[in-house]
Amino acid sequence: MNSTLEQTLLSAIRTIPDYPKPGILFRDITTLLGDARAFRRAVDELVHPYSGTGVAKIAGIEARGFILGGAMAHQLSSGFVPIRKKGKLPHTTVRVAYSLEYGVDEMEMHTDAVQPGEKVILVDDLIATGGTAEGAVKLLKQMGADIVAACFVIDLPDLGGRKKLEALGVNVRTLVS
Ligand code: PRP
Ligand code: ADE
Repeated sequence: MNSTLEQTLLSAIRTIPDYPKPGILFRDITTLLGDARAFRRAVDELVHPYSGTGVAKIAGIEARGFILGGAMAHQLSSGFVPIRKKGKLPHTTVRVAYSLEYGVDEMEMHTDAVQPGEKVILVDDLIATGGTAEGAVKLLKQMGADIVAACFVIDLPDLGGRKKLEALGVNVRTLVS
């Protein structure tokens, strides 16, 4: 990625200290989403390696992964699969517990959302410890998805998430650190 794009994205991300808990530096992408140029450039950069590669589905992690994932699915003419916090999906689901930088939770995906062998890209705004993305990878693998890549706008490398996903054999793409 060229430095102009990196600067555009970095300067569009706001940092909030001590949110949602003391000691956390929260990287807030609402400012990037509200900046038309930065939002478009982030989505274009996330999708460009996968254009024309037959990606069947974009799987977005609630909540910020939905915003990026919907735009990516449109760009790639792919379907969209929501991976949601527990209790939100109405049909039969698979569920997994996970931990993240500031808590623990459970997430779910519909069992019929992905067919075995389908090419899927996982997306979220940010990878920190990788606990959330690891949970999503487990759900997708359980349903037989072919995970082409996991994509994030922001990597917090000190928290080790990228390495955790790569150790699971997942190709990780991030735009800024
Ligand atoms: C944030 C972020 C990722 C996750 C990353 O979501 O959007 O999903 O944390 O953390 P990890 O790499 O340590 O697992 P959050 O749970 O705050 O949910 P939200 O998008 O609904 O606010
Ligand atoms: N999710 C986990 N850690 C985060 C952080 N530091 N900023 C925003 N989202 C996060």
